[in-house]
Amino acid sequence: MESIWSKTCEIGKKEALKGDIQADTVVIGGGMAGLLTAYELERSGIRTVVLEAGRIGGGQTKNTTAKITSQHGLYCRTFIEKKGKDTAEKYVQANQAAIKEYKKVICDEKIDCDLTEADAYVYSQDAEKIESEAAAARELGINASVEKQIEIPVSCAGAVKFPDQALFHPLKFMRALSEKLTVYEGSRVTEVEENLVRTACGSVRADKIVFATHFPFVNFPGMYFARMHQERSYVLALENAGTLEGMYIGDGKDSLSFRQYGKYVLLGGRGHRTGESEGGGKYEGGSYEGLREAARRLYPGSREAACWSAQDCITADQVPFIGRYAQDRPDWLVATGFQKWGMTSSMVSAMILRDIICKKENDHAEVFSPSRFSSEELPQIVKDSGKAVKGLTKRFFHIPDESLEQLRPGHGGVVETESGKAGVYKEEDGQIYQVDIVCPHLGCELVWNPDEKTWDCPCHGSRFDYEGNLLEGPAQEGICYE
Ligand code: FES
Repeated sequence: MESIWSKTCEIGKKEALKGDIQADTVVIGGGMAGLLTAYELERSGIRTVVLEAGRIGGGQTKNTTAKITSQHGLYCRTFIEKKGKDTAEKYVQANQAAIKEYKKVICDEKIDCDLTEADAYVYSQDAEKIESEAAAARELGINASVEKQIEIPVSCAGAVKFPDQALFHPLKFMRALSEKLTVYEGSRVTEVEENLVRTACGSVRADKIVFATHFPFVNFPGMYFARMHQERSYVLALENAGTLEGMYIGDGKDSLSFRQYGKYVLLGGRGHRTGESEGGGKYEGGSYEGLREAARRLYPGSREAACWSAQDCITADQVPFIGRYAQDRPDWLVATGFQKWGMTSSMVSAMILRDIICKKENDHAEVFSPSRFSSEELPQIVKDSGKAVKGLTKRFFHIPDESLEQLRPGHGGVVETESGKAGVYKEEDGQIYQVDIVCPHLGCELVWNPDEKTWDCPCHGSRFDYEGNLLEGPAQEGICYE
């Protein structure tokens, strides 16, 4: 399953790191946040090196819907009530500044990345909520309005509009940006020790280390695994579905998102916590099918040109963690927990981390500081911890789903083998792939994801293909048997 971005843009391969080098800053992770941070630092005179485990943009960036917007659902009223107007205003303005910075970088560097100015809308059935949200957004400095008529085929009471947001092709943007930076691909970091970062074939010694790896992989200090969970969502690129001017997302958990790219309408949705696939990890239905059903209903006559999925880190208070990794590691910095708003949050991260490293004042930094804590986060943290405990105990008490013989071709499950419980995938031709069912991160039992044919961790969201290769962290190794 390949996103429309991967299908339409190839980024030239870069060398792996070989030998020991030095830099002012080393950024771990060659996704949007990592590259933008490196770019902003280089422009400020800081010699920066990026280490990427796989390919540039090969993690979550290639799977985004690529909306550059400060409209992150219906959140303005809630943020004002829960965090106060000053904090809410800083959050909004940090994101507005990020949109402006994207447009400036694209213009300054003359990057051809299909940048399109567009308005962003959140639609809802609740007319009162929309009015209240638009008023709250205006209090925070956004020129928001309520629109009763919108161009997408959903029933709603109207939508809140944020004007002058943007859409682009993320990989075309990254391809151009990476040409201006020192990036090593195929250079997975194996160890971080104070100011030294090691890979299998080399090391970088640097004054500052930035973790821009989607989910931070060093468990202690920081304990980010206890402060975030991961969620998956799905996208279809539809041909023959008309054209849209704006970008749209619905209010509520089961809502859909819409944007245009070229001749395609990108329809997104069917999100769920990682490790909790639709159909309970069993055979029928699944998230892609749910989305296809919506596509048939909303756009009869459309044709699916691509489908893919994304994974997002979710913080308890819906604000990313950007800043110092932990109090006792003053030279380590982190950017994570972007919710569903990876593009804008990546630029917010780059601007804040640049200012921290350059010792410049940044008005928005405090709002995103990883050391913040509010009691409002507690219920979510307790819920996330409960899920982790469940995942751990399942490993000891979960009775295998079925026997190897019962497993249908094309499906996976936990089965009892001669050497104990194992994860097994049976190919259509009957070939068997067997993996260790224990997550190498912190030991939870993995679950089968029939949508992607992967093993997913319900605790913190690590994922593995059916052969056992690592797809996504925080785990740092695969689950193949020796
Ligand atoms: Fe943490 Fe699996 S990702 S235990």
